[in-house]
Amino acid sequence: MKSYNIAVIPGDGTGPEVIGEGIKVLDSVSRKFGFKLDFSYYDFGGSRYLKTGETLPDSAIEELKKYNAIYLGAIGHPDVKAGILERGILLRLRFELDQYINLRPVKLYPGIDCPLKNKKPEDIDFIVVRENTEGLYAGAGGVLKKGTPDEVAIQESINTRKGVERCIRFAFEYCKRRNKRNKLTLCGKTNVLTFAFDLWERTFYEIAKEYPGIKTDYAHVDAVTMWFVKNPEWFDVIVTDNMFGDIITDLGAMIQGGMGIAAGGNINPHGVSMFEPIGGSAPKYTGKNVVNPLAAICAGGMMLEHIGENKAAQLIEKAVMEVTGKHIKSLAAGQMGYSTSEVGDLVAKLVTELG
Ligand code: IPM
Ligand code: MG
Repeated sequence: MKSYNIAVIPGDGTGPEVIGEGIKVLDSVSRKFGFKLDFSYYDFGGSRYLKTGETLPDSAIEELKKYNAIYLGAIGHPDVKAGILERGILLRLRFELDQYINLRPVKLYPGIDCPLKNKKPEDIDFIVVRENTEGLYAGAGGVLKKGTPDEVAIQESINTRKGVERCIRFAFEYCKRRNKRNKLTLCGKTNVLTFAFDLWERTFYEIAKEYPGIKTDYAHVDAVTMWFVKNPEWFDVIVTDNMFGDIITDLGAMIQGGMGIAAGGNINPHGVSMFEPIGGSAPKYTGKNVVNPLAAICAGGMMLEHIGENKAAQLIEKAVMEVTGKHIKSLAAGQMGYSTSEVGDLVAKLVTELG
């Protein structure tokens, strides 16, 4: 029997609850398709940090490299100063595992109340390919004369030809494989960030020559936020840098119905990748069994697709669509008409029943 080793980092807040439901569904679907998932748990997160003062032990990175994939809940703790866990755990994993792509599907599932008037599932189905290791996130810069009236703070955006090119190549390949509208949009700010996005734009059109079947398009990031609301049907695949990708994918999550359904993958095509619901740790709902586990479940589906279990992944999506279309009342925490674990049970059961 085929078997895969998965590292699970449930993390903070509602992370463990939603990951628990994801695992329920993964167990159910793997039984059906006859493959095995071996889960190993890691306690990285805010609680561990508060106890030990350590974000990630140094051995973690090498150890995690041995897995077929990583399944992550959420990182973020109300008692830990902003930035420590984000940089010390989440970003460190992305960077040191060289997960240079952050893949974020934006898809409106049936039955979901879309905040955009008159937009239907066929209008909202695109994916953002966000560069995930460079840009403003690289941590370049510094501060002088801190706390004085002369303070200087510099935070630089790092864009390397190699980093930009591998991201853009991934996006073209992905667009081709996806084979929907075969259109790739570069999202940038060439009118102002004339160094960084000049590199992005030149690289984009250079690589485009290798993909005559893919239509190319460019939009400034501010315009992209406008089109997400006005004409989301224009998009198929969007490629962008780390910071813009962060911002537009939160907007993307809202137009697909909310954080309760938004999943993402941190991809290293040649190494170990990590899948997560993008909604965060939601401390105020922790332990209440009210948050929506569908984002975590969808992240589990993306993980299966990544390791090559495509049929199982497709079935998870089908079951999720059945749940949004016929069962839950809303995606919002506490308003689903079901508890967190009941939604997990429902999807786990549907994957056994659906063809
Ligand atoms: C995300 C999050 C992270 C990011 C934070 C928690 C560091 O917002 O995954 O989008 O900015 O990448
Ligand atoms: Mg974000």
